[in-house]
Amino acid sequence: MSDARSASSLFSLGDPPILLEARNINKYYTNGKQGLHVLKDVSLKIDIGEIISVLGPSGAGKSTLLHILGGLDTPTSGEVLFEGKAFKNLSESELSSVRNEAVGFVFQFYHLMPEFTILENVMMPALIGLRPPASGLRPEEKALELLKEVGLSHRTRHFPGQLSGGEQQRVAIARALMNMPKLLLCDEPTGNLDSENGKQICQLLKKLNQERKMTIVLVTHNLEVAGFGFKVYNMADGSIRPERGGAD
Ligand SMILES: Nc1ncnc2c1ncn2[C@@H]1O[C@H](COP(=O)(O)OP(=O)(O)O)[C@@H](O)[C@H]1O
Ligand SMILES: [Mg+2]
Repeated sequence: MSDARSASSLFSLGDPPILLEARNINKYYTNGKQGLHVLKDVSLKIDIGEIISVLGPSGAGKSTLLHILGGLDTPTSGEVLFEGKAFKNLSESELSSVRNEAVGFVFQFYHLMPEFTILENVMMPALIGLRPPASGLRPEEKALELLKEVGLSHRTRHFPGQLSGGEQQRVAIARALMNMPKLLLCDEPTGNLDSENGKQICQLLKKLNQERKMTIVLVTHNLEVAGFGFKVYNMADGSIRPERGGAD
């Protein structure tokens, strides 16, 4: 077979490449004698450059799913493939480079370090020895650039406690971008914010998607926030089904 034909069979024209795929994920917890089936045969494909949202009530299994998608937790059965490679076939060092460099996490409660400045918080992934950003910029220059991008150039020397919740979440997003991840996983990123600040965070995520082609998975219990996804999935009691656009 010619090279051209083998290449075209790998990348069929018109289909956007898949960044992350979850295949038949199940997750069980056992608490004493009681078993808990938290994820039930969850399958999901995430194309490069799209925003996917997963809408579901508290306890539905959203955080568990997000942790498994980012390689922070392992499924009981099923598999996750990142750029076509199954996490379970990666060595510990390959998996940790996916977790630390290819994926950025944003959480409901920001998880900033209160004793460090905003600039230091954003630089933290580089300061703790993770791979420096691939941009060629020094970590401080990169962090300043990211803080500008999230609209916080004027707060770099402040501490997290001096910022509003919405501002702190913007810092957390800048920090998540420090290693130039391919995928941003956001767990209730607006869950601690009022609706106006929540909307600003969603607009920032949308801007990152449009300007950087950032691929984003957003889990939330908020219908309006979920609406920012190109595709919306509904999650209830560990099962997922397409709500809008996610029929593939
Ligand atoms: N480490 C754990 N051990 C036992 N049960 C857990 C654990 N983590 C989560 N759960 C349970 O799994 C279910 C789903 O939790 P979670 O993924 O946090 O849901 P969500 O993020 O949608 O609120 C809940 O019933 C929760 O109590
Ligand atoms: Mg949760």
